[in-house]
Amino acid sequence: MQTTLITNALCVNEGSTTASDLFIRHGRIERIAPRLELRADTTIDAGGRLLLPGMIDCHVHFREPGLEQKADIQSESAAAVAGGVTSFMEMPNTRPAATTNEILEQKFALAATRSIANYSFHLGASNSNLDELLALDPRTVCGVKLFMGASTGNLLVDRAQQLEDIFKEVHVPVSLHCEDTNTIRENEKAAREKFGESIPFGEHWKIRSEAACYQSTALAVELATRYGTRIHVLHLTTARELALFKAGPAAGKRITCEACPHHLWFSAGDYDALGALIKCNPSIKTADDRAALRQALLDDVVDTVGTDHAPHLWEEKQNPYGSAPSGLPVIQSALVSLLEFLPPAAVAEKTAHNPARIFQVAERGFIREGCWADLVLVDPRKPHTVTKENTLYKCGWSPFEGTTFGSSVCLTLVNGRIAYRDGQVNRSVRGQRLLFDR
Ligand code: DOR
Ligand code: ZN
Repeated sequence: MQTTLITNALCVNEGSTTASDLFIRHGRIERIAPRLELRADTTIDAGGRLLLPGMIDCHVHFREPGLEQKADIQSESAAAVAGGVTSFMEMPNTRPAATTNEILEQKFALAATRSIANYSFHLGASNSNLDELLALDPRTVCGVKLFMGASTGNLLVDRAQQLEDIFKEVHVPVSLHCEDTNTIRENEKAAREKFGESIPFGEHWKIRSEAACYQSTALAVELATRYGTRIHVLHLTTARELALFKAGPAAGKRITCEACPHHLWFSAGDYDALGALIKCNPSIKTADDRAALRQALLDDVVDTVGTDHAPHLWEEKQNPYGSAPSGLPVIQSALVSLLEFLPPAAVAEKTAHNPARIFQVAERGFIREGCWADLVLVDPRKPHTVTKENTLYKCGWSPFEGTTFGSSVCLTLVNGRIAYRDGQVNRSVRGQRLLFDR
């Protein structure tokens, strides 16, 4: 298939919403105009529905290699395109942990044969791999992931000198997990003294507390300000941390931040019903925090939404608090969940334009002539309910089960090819390695 014509789309791009036709050739958008009288191998009538740039998800955990019982690149990229995500940047807490460029390249090789969406992989920082971080190729790798707090996996950087060296010397974007481990340990100890081994899940947000988040995020912002580091602070969860970030366009900032769909959707009141299913790090906090995060997206204090898609097995999630793993699968519902409370133009900004700007992704993230045709067609008036049956994650469950969203993803194009349409994933589509203009 060489050419595709999309007619009658309501294009949501760079702050405007315009009725347009699009002509795609060899995977790229060749022309955009109010009306195109062109013949194409395939014609898609968008029927006046919303056409957004495909989501570039800068924060996923796809578990391959080493944890394929939970998820793999093929299964989760299928769920991604079904949810309108056309590119992802994956995290290094796989097995072995991706802390060398050699291990990282093995992940790229796996993705080349298995991924339906476009892909990149973060190199993980450890206490001793500065040489590897500095050897990373900035044009073909998205960036570095640094855990400034212990979480799933074993990638904590807690050597003060190593932390300073990373902030000083790494020039690609550094994505940060910020939670102060000592604060969490103290809180956990106190909870154990109070509840013994049966800590209620509703304690999670008090253990992985606001103070733990604030302390670590404040340190990150301080170091990045001192050294001019390009940092992207992942998964903010508290109103208090927001005060550490400046409002304004992402393009002009060296310190940017992310919010995640589950922190924008759930709140502390949901632990009673959902328990382990919404246990994640950093934790889901109060309804006031959630309201502040939503507002911060509108105020351009929070720059991106990344999913932190982190699948774990249903059986593992039946464990008691101490041994139930943290993380939840969300990638298939992320885009539609955002449309419940954000205008479509803001969704495009936070999920596609800003990720492209922050990571300097080449030729993606916008509906522009010359860009790759990574596109998602959304019907804003077609509700759907999340069920186990329509959930594509390998782990087979979603924290959104039973939730009805007002909109649905109808069609997803990856490099001009139909990767998803009306409930069906085309598993023969293969994404490309992301490239970066740096
Ligand atoms: O909840 C989380 N799950 N937080 C993380 O930092 C890691 C993730 C995972 O990989 O499961
Ligand atoms: Zn994560």
